[in-house]
Amino acid sequence: MNVDPLAPRSPHETALTLTQLMQPEHSNSLGNVHGGVVLKLCDECGGIIATRHARRPAVTVTVDSVNFLQPVLLGRLVLVHGRITWVGNTSIEVELQVETEHLLTGERVLTNRAYFVYVALDEFHRPVRVPRLLLADEEARRHFAEGEVRKQRRLAAAVPKGA
Ligand SMILES: CC(C)(COP(=O)(O)OP(=O)(O)OC[C@H]1O[C@@H](n2cnc3c(N)ncnc32)[C@H](O)[C@@H]1OP(=O)(O)O)[C@@H](O)C(=O)NCCC(=O)NCCS
Repeated sequence: MNVDPLAPRSPHETALTLTQLMQPEHSNSLGNVHGGVVLKLCDECGGIIATRHARRPAVTVTVDSVNFLQPVLLGRLVLVHGRITWVGNTSIEVELQVETEHLLTGERVLTNRAYFVYVALDEFHRPVRVPRLLLADEEARRHFAEGEVRKQRRLAAAVPKGA
């Protein structure tokens, strides 16, 4: 099979929901879920999505717009929904939304939102070109345009190399 590794991909091809039941070992000192546990799940979900898009190893280069909207309670099922919103030459932005589900009632609560950005690497661990994003509908085009603005803002705020 001769598949073009740089053939454009749609966000739907790589979107993913990661789920995990929150157990006592995920607790902070208040008895809720530790924020770091939620961020780790987000990073895992986003990393899988970026790797799926690039079909290359992808490392996290930045995390922004992380919002903890509600506490995550122990015993809840956490659902991390991720999808690509923007792609550059070597970098990939993934939007993550975290919901919790009460398993006995089915009630769902949106608890977190964040953007994670990944860079795909070649065999020498250098940034490598990734497929373009297929923008099939108006919503995808809007997300992409907003992602372009976020990208410029991030680069303007980034610590200069070697500083
Ligand atoms: C990610 C890494 C390979 C980038 O290396 P680099 O020399 O800065 O690479 P470049 O300057 O060529 O930038 C690569 C891409 O990242 C983007 N980028 C770099 N810094 C960024 C930042 N602070 N915010 C957003 N994008 C950034 C660049 O704009 C470029 O995107 P593009 O090709 O789509 O335009 C390097 O910084 C690194 O190895 N960091 C550590 C990663 C890591 O350990 N993560 C945690 C564990 S997974």
